Amino acid sequence: MTVSRAQQGTKGSVLIAGATGFMGRFVAESSLESGKPTYLLLRPGSLCPSKAKIVKSLQDKGAIVLQGLINDRELMQKMLKEHEIEAVISAVGGGNLLDQLPLVEAIRAVGSVKRFLPSEFGHDVDRADPVEPGLTMYNEKRIVRRSIKESGVPYTYICCNSIASWPYYDNTHPSEVSPPLDRFQIYGDGSIKAYFVAGPDIGKFTMKAVDDPRTENKIVHFRPSVNCLSINELASVWEKKIGRTLPRVTVTEDDLLAAAAENCIPQSIVASLTHDIFIKGCQVDFSIDGPNEVEVTELYPKESFVTVDECFEVFAVKAEDEGRTAVAAAVGGSDGLAAPKSNDAVVDVQPIPAIC
Ligand SMILES: NC(=O)c1ccc[n+]([C@@H]2O[C@H](COP(=O)([O-])OP(=O)(O)OC[C@H]3O[C@@H](n4cnc5c(N)ncnc54)[C@H](OP(=O)(O)O)[C@@H]3O)[C@@H](O)[C@H]2O)c1
Repeated sequence: MTVSRAQQGTKGSVLIAGATGFMGRFVAESSLESGKPTYLLLRPGSLCPSKAKIVKSLQDKGAIVLQGLINDRELMQKMLKEHEIEAVISAVGGGNLLDQLPLVEAIRAVGSVKRFLPSEFGHDVDRADPVEPGLTMYNEKRIVRRSIKESGVPYTYICCNSIASWPYYDNTHPSEVSPPLDRFQIYGDGSIKAYFVAGPDIGKFTMKAVDDPRTENKIVHFRPSVNCLSINELASVWEKKIGRTLPRVTVTEDDLLAAAAENCIPQSIVASLTHDIFIKGCQVDFSIDGPNEVEVTELYPKESFVTVDECFEVFAVKAEDEGRTAVAAAVGGSDGLAAPKSNDAVVDVQPIPAIC
């Protein structure tokens, strides 16, 4: 076990697994901002340059690096005790969800962890019912929930809905990519609403919930009304930002189901969840009134959320700086007639790892 900075475990210490990942980074940043002693569990081995940069920037803000795997139960037990960890937050990715089972056992065995937040950060998996392969991922999240329940470990499930960005149906990390500059792909009739939450807000409210007694053994839903938008509305927000309209191409329910059925991991998982959100309406088809669930804007009514409009402003400035809006206008035009095909996209689409 390596400790990169000499610092004693102190009250309120948080251990975060997955801080080099997409969601974990937001949580780690917010944990450090909250002033809690923040330990990052990194997988042993060398980091690629981009991840090394993330870790360095978190260390500069005071993060303490430990090395290990959450599925190493003995090591986890030792770490949790030695560093007097009070909260454990896991943001491991979809391919490693069951690695959390030994971690749950370790937390139960030490008995001193006051809260465990497993890798959820999406929908209420006991309620939503996506097609495969999203269902398999949800089944794994459900297995982790059952093991937490059986262990008696105090928990909070963060159901933050969608990250604020253009919801590309084939990208697991859509907020890393600008909204389109050539054409919009509209799911179904584009009228189904969803909740969009900026990454830093996911981190901020996760850290508020982590030691809030009102969230103990509860599901915390994120439903900021200011960011409840349909994909048609989202497209209009972006059009205002870039000062022109773009063609809207329909991606039908069948198209999404076909993309899901390809079972190309992870893109097909995203397609199945996109179908659940924008065709079936899984984020908005229920009310939050169960005894074990709370809503974040009701818990923290004085706190504001970053709006989708503000997030899109950042994307627009970036695109303008990179000169891409001008290029897009030249190739696509604003009349909606001469848009480039998706292969000619002027947006640098982030490569995503596929296992198929
Ligand atoms: N609501 C949304 O819009 C949205 C979007 C994306 C993801 N999510 C959810 O957010 C959660 C995190 O997903 P993500 O996409 O952020 O993950 P990710 O980018 O793939 O990152 C996964 C992280 O977990 C670490 N990790 C994996 N296995 C581990 C193990 N056994 N021990 C210790 N660390 C381990 C990885 O370390 P390395 O650096 O060594 O690989 C990495 O830091 C998931 O539950 C996912 O479903 C939600």
